[in-house]
Amino acid sequence: MQLLDGKLLSQQIKQEIAAEIALIRQQGGKIPHLVAILVGTMGRSETYVASKMKSCEEVGMTSTLIRFDESVTEAELLAKVQEVNDNPDMDGLIVQLPLPAHISADKVMETIHPAKDVDGFHPTNIGRMAKGLPAFISATPQGILEMLSRYNIETAGKHCVVVGRSQIVGLPMSILMQRNTYPGNCTVTLTHSRTQNLADVCRSADILIAALGRPGFITADMVKEGAVVIDVGLEKVPDASKKSGFALKGDVNFEEVAPKTDYITPVPGGVGLMTICSLMQNTLKAAKGEIYS
Ligand code: GUN
Repeated sequence: MQLLDGKLLSQQIKQEIAAEIALIRQQGGKIPHLVAILVGTMGRSETYVASKMKSCEEVGMTSTLIRFDESVTEAELLAKVQEVNDNPDMDGLIVQLPLPAHISADKVMETIHPAKDVDGFHPTNIGRMAKGLPAFISATPQGILEMLSRYNIETAGKHCVVVGRSQIVGLPMSILMQRNTYPGNCTVTLTHSRTQNLADVCRSADILIAALGRPGFITADMVKEGAVVIDVGLEKVPDASKKSGFALKGDVNFEEVAPKTDYITPVPGGVGLMTICSLMQNTLKAAKGEIYS
């Protein structure tokens, strides 16, 4: 069993991004600028956005956080998105999800200009990704691809099972893993809450990607000997042994699953850290006009 070390990889990637930004600065070029919009203080959004902004600072990228009260109207939010679209100094824009129920997330995503959509949530980017055209790919799936490739994990011809069909992770992941490229060329099964015989399907996976948001759901009996297991889950669960009173748990029961695997991501210290790196890589691409020129 080998750990897929998100901490180590993310440090390497951050150094690469920082070096590129230092070079841009040295040559008097435009410093990439990421804008994040945060509405209210729901769940862990606050923490996620703070850590995205901090990472920008670490690599020398410009960042702007725009906050709105939970009571903001959809029209006000859309107007702000349009303002960022029209500002040539701002290269990338993310609107942290979830949004309050009175705002349509789809409408917001569709208003972000595809060339600034560094989260890869705009239908144009999803469509282009599915066709294998240059596109912004959403951060978590892209971080997972980066992890597979930096550890030289073989994917061609393998059976990849994705558990969870979220628009942010499961769905794009399933599309990416079947593409005729590396990492890719897998036979993909996308499973969800209505899948029958889920344990059997998971047991047939060479690469198992768990992204369903249920702590410890994947148990040892669901994993094939020698599988590669990627855990996207990150949930707070009560833990009396911890000073804070809680522990962060993934979707995989790590203690019992890890010994069966060839490779596995830890939680925390796995996929989560890669996600932020992807966002910064995308912002750099946006600033350079690499996807849409
Ligand atoms: N909420 C959970 N994950 C994400 C993400 O990757 N991007 C945005 N904008 N919101 C999220």
